[in-house]
Amino acid sequence: MTQHETSDITETVLRTLEGCTDARYQQVMSAVIRHAHALVREVDLQPHEWMAAIQFLTRVGHTCDDKRQEFILLSDTLGISMLTVQLEQARRSAKALADRAATTQPTEATVQGPFYWEGAPVLPLGSDIGAGMPGEPAHYSGRVTDTHGRPIENCCLDVWSGDGEGVYDMQMGEDAGMRLRARFHTDADGRYHFWSVKPTYYPIPDDGPVGDMLKAMGRHPNRPGHIHMMVYRDGYVPLTTHLFPSDSPYLDSDVVFGVRDSLILPYTAHAPGTAPDGRTMERAFHSARYDIHLAPAA
Ligand code: BEZ
Ligand code: FE
Repeated sequence: MTQHETSDITETVLRTLEGCTDARYQQVMSAVIRHAHALVREVDLQPHEWMAAIQFLTRVGHTCDDKRQEFILLSDTLGISMLTVQLEQARRSAKALADRAATTQPTEATVQGPFYWEGAPVLPLGSDIGAGMPGEPAHYSGRVTDTHGRPIENCCLDVWSGDGEGVYDMQMGEDAGMRLRARFHTDADGRYHFWSVKPTYYPIPDDGPVGDMLKAMGRHPNRPGHIHMMVYRDGYVPLTTHLFPSDSPYLDSDVVFGVRDSLILPYTAHAPGTAPDGRTMERAFHSARYDIHLAPAA
């Protein structure tokens, strides 16, 4: 049989990896070849369709620059980013997930997204990172514990969100600087509290090839409102997650598949008056309480 016998081409290509010295690379590339060949066979892909796919991926590459990563957006909107997040959390928290004596499971992780900015200011508990920004004030509080309910003191919560119109500081122009983001550290009882805004839904950048793909698929480009958090302290599996207000649109159709039921919480609406931290609020505001649980590092 020649190397070009169609019925055998998958096996022929797989055999070319026999000399590969990196076992993991060989495993991954073999799977790429097997699945890609299976896809071509399943849909009986025509050459002009494969060329259109190559042109699409070329456009995805050309849309990337130092501020925009269209390949990550492609991975996010196809659910691949979220799948890797779920597998990583299951792998890293395996011990905690199997611990029958645990009183709670680790808080679920979700995608990081493109708007994380390293080095946010370290602020005292109770600070307001939403002051002067569009949006309704919201008071956030809760406790960080391990999976046995023991408080985690001095645990860092690195938080960020868009404003009340769904716009992140990184999208506000060169001079905006850091807004609506900060690092807080829990007190001796694992407690945190701060002020920000109630986040609203927003579209992911959809003026490029990924936006065209979503339109062609008949999908909208929106994410439900959420505030991002990275929660970490030595000795625990770090957590990257969001909190979602329970009344946000698009909770059941997040374009990047990042919603977990356990991360949806009510934001309680309050008339002007005394806030949970004793502050007098002249405007109406919201409060959101959420406890976070970290798995011990293996
Ligand atoms: C975000 O949450 O900010 C986001 C996540 C994935 C893709 C685009 C935006
Ligand atoms: Fe976001």
